[in-house]
Amino acid sequence: MPIYPIEPFRIKAIESTRQTTKEEREQLLEKAGYNLFKLRAEDVMIDLLTDSGTAAMSDNQWAGIMLGDESYAGAKSFYNLKEVISTIFGFRHFVPTHQGRAAENILCNVLLESGESIPSNMHFDTTGANIRAVGGRPIDLLIDEGNDPKSRHPFKGNLDIEKLRQFIEATGKENIPFGMITITNNAGGGQPVSMANIKAVSEVYHEYSIPFFIDACRYAENAYFIKLREEGYANRTPLEIAQEMFSYADGCTMSAKKDGLVNIGGFLCMNDDNLFESVQQELILREGFPTYGGLAGRDLEALARGLWEGLDERYLDYRLAQTAYFGESLIEAGIPIVEPPGGHAIYIDAGSFLPHIPADQFPGQALSIEMYIAGGIRTVELGSVAFAYPDPDTGEIKHPPLELVRLAIPRRVYTRSHFDYVIAVMADIAARKSTLRGIEIVTQPELLRHFTATFKIIAES
Ligand code: F0G
Repeated sequence: MPIYPIEPFRIKAIESTRQTTKEEREQLLEKAGYNLFKLRAEDVMIDLLTDSGTAAMSDNQWAGIMLGDESYAGAKSFYNLKEVISTIFGFRHFVPTHQGRAAENILCNVLLESGESIPSNMHFDTTGANIRAVGGRPIDLLIDEGNDPKSRHPFKGNLDIEKLRQFIEATGKENIPFGMITITNNAGGGQPVSMANIKAVSEVYHEYSIPFFIDACRYAENAYFIKLREEGYANRTPLEIAQEMFSYADGCTMSAKKDGLVNIGGFLCMNDDNLFESVQQELILREGFPTYGGLAGRDLEALARGLWEGLDERYLDYRLAQTAYFGESLIEAGIPIVEPPGGHAIYIDAGSFLPHIPADQFPGQALSIEMYIAGGIRTVELGSVAFAYPDPDTGEIKHPPLELVRLAIPRRVYTRSHFDYVIAVMADIAARKSTLRGIEIVTQPELLRHFTATFKIIAES
């Protein structure tokens, strides 16, 4: 039996959730066109849609909210944050942004030209979209084990060094304005990247004089995986490990809504002085003055405090053990997941869970609909609804390799009984899974259809 860790906190403020009945949920979901994004959050009992911006802040962070300095320029809260970022991340310069994708947008607008390529282990969809928006090409070079849901490789988020070298040789370093790596790899099961891999990736990029940026959203969780799994790091603190990770890079993009433990915020770091000049110009145009960058002073203050709390060893130990408990218990209940459990989420392999539903009838969507109806649980489909597109040359629909449903875990929000409830709901669904039916799309937009498409459950023939 997996062990549930003791929470390194107790609860001071609570947020009530509304109890709904199965009949109510059936009606609510029908009204929402069977798209869980269209539900009102108050109609959800356990919301596992995302771990982004959904953390519970601490009393220390709420106290910081009152102390936020709202000056337009040179606010005290900016300097507090600057000191924290400089200690943890170690880059010479940083600018705040309203969230992670704004940092990506600025970086791409300043460094990237049409036709150029950005390699990574796996780009998150906003990063890929920001690269495409300026005519660039996002390139994913994950190790093969990263695509195998059953492989228990300890660092399934690693970038394949051989593929990287070949890609740079074939493309030409002049067509690669910067390279990236995502830690942990959200698009691939929340799997970590090893220190050895970050170092090797850095060496290859630098051999070709390509600047190296880390997508750092879940860097603290990644650091703790290194501590637990990589030789030589067991006695290092998460802070020391983070400092070493970033010492290999030239900058980073950060969505602070994850390991920053805040509800809004992000930043962009870099060492290069000239790049910093251009970034500041772009920032003023899009986000705000360089000492607030799209955030209120109180947000900067909450983030300065949240970054420290996100690196706390007891917190990280609890965080990763909680995800592992959830994932291993689902496996025990007969639910196939991407193994081993990642840092921030569990990904159910709906394709193999519901083998009677073909990819073009969306097994992931079928499962997430059933999880809401049966238990009031909200998840997100990351399979053919989100990722199947017609091939631009042949028009043939290309399905993604896996039909996944992501159960993302908000930080410091849910307790063991919430997870046990989800596990029980899933065990009940598993016992009658052959009765679940496929899904049909009723309406859909051209792009990013999973956010707004409407669906229906295919009637029994
Ligand atoms: N990079 C990664 C790896 C992410 O997971 C996200 C967001 C971003 C960048 C963009 O950050 O939302 O602050 O603009 N991921 C959220 C999720 C939305 O649900 O996984 P943002």
